[in-house]
Amino acid sequence: MRVLVLGKTGQIGHELCKLLDSKDITYDAPDRSELDICDAVQLQSCLKHYQPTIVVNAAAYNNPVMAENEPSRCFAVNRDAVAELADLCNRMNIILIHASSYRVFDGEKQEPYSEKDPTNPIGVLGTSRLQAEQQIRERCPEHIILRLSWVISDRRPNLLRRQAEQMVKHREVYVTPDQLGCPTPASDVARVIVAVLQQVNCGAKAWGTYHYCASEPVSESGFAEIMIAEASQFWELKVRKLIMAKMDSREGFKPPANATFHCTKILNTFGVHARPWRNALSDIIRLYHEEQKNN
Ligand SMILES: NC(=O)c1ccc[n+]([C@@H]2O[C@H](COP(=O)([O-])OP(=O)(O)OC[C@H]3O[C@@H](n4cnc5c(N)ncnc54)[C@H](OP(=O)(O)O)[C@@H]3O)[C@@H](O)[C@H]2O)c1
Repeated sequence: MRVLVLGKTGQIGHELCKLLDSKDITYDAPDRSELDICDAVQLQSCLKHYQPTIVVNAAAYNNPVMAENEPSRCFAVNRDAVAELADLCNRMNIILIHASSYRVFDGEKQEPYSEKDPTNPIGVLGTSRLQAEQQIRERCPEHIILRLSWVISDRRPNLLRRQAEQMVKHREVYVTPDQLGCPTPASDVARVIVAVLQQVNCGAKAWGTYHYCASEPVSESGFAEIMIAEASQFWELKVRKLIMAKMDSREGFKPPANATFHCTKILNTFGVHARPWRNALSDIIRLYHEEQKNN
């Protein structure tokens, strides 16, 4: 197995490379200076150079607010580059594992989403994710699309860092009580990707779309309450009050209210159990705190 990881500096890419290192699995992970995935020529020569048997695509445009103002940039990274990648993987007999998102759904469902639920993205970012999935299905039959809920880690913008930053700086922090998700540590996502890639490498031909999120759904405001308890071990927090805000006040449009998944298909196919996120929270906050101290 030769793995090529795209997006090594991101939340998921970083944790995936760490885990592959610890498991002695051979991989390559070019950074953006070596490969801009929007450059078709670079993409092709990169695949020719590294000759992977499996590509994990964790490279993405991820800012929902900016995506509304620069849709062409968002579609170039999230859809067009992925379409080209899928074509190349198909032609070169490479398996493609691609990280996708709850944003392919509108979030109106009252229950966790399963893979069979109809998609209906809101906004540019969600649309780009759905169109990427469609391109992969059309162009590269040997693929795994892994849809994820909220991803948290000590790096890059995410719910945990955003809340911690606010709680350190402000007495009042705005949170939404009616947005539900499963904060999934990037290290847990890496565990799932490695479990899947080991099995497809051993011949499991279970191509298709899978949902994964950590167990225990929580609202953004519920997560904030837990964050206050955990983060106050590391910082002198300024926050005294959580203000319940409307969902659309942060992103400028309404993000999906429900980002929770049924993870039965990935359990039944790959034996991947959903893990609770709470146990990982303290470690992630500690790492983020150390990074802040060193900067
Ligand atoms: N973050 C979430 O809450 C979340 C939720 C659900 C699903 N997901 C899925 O998980 C995937 C990865 O998410 P993440 O949170 O790990 O992302 P992230 O932290 O934002 O990292 C994105 C990665 O993509 C790279 N990248 C962006 N544009 C590129 C380009 N043109 N060429 C090469 N590399 C490029 C970035 O490189 P630079 O460091 O150079 O910018 C970075 O390494 C996404 O596909 C997303 O759909 C994420």
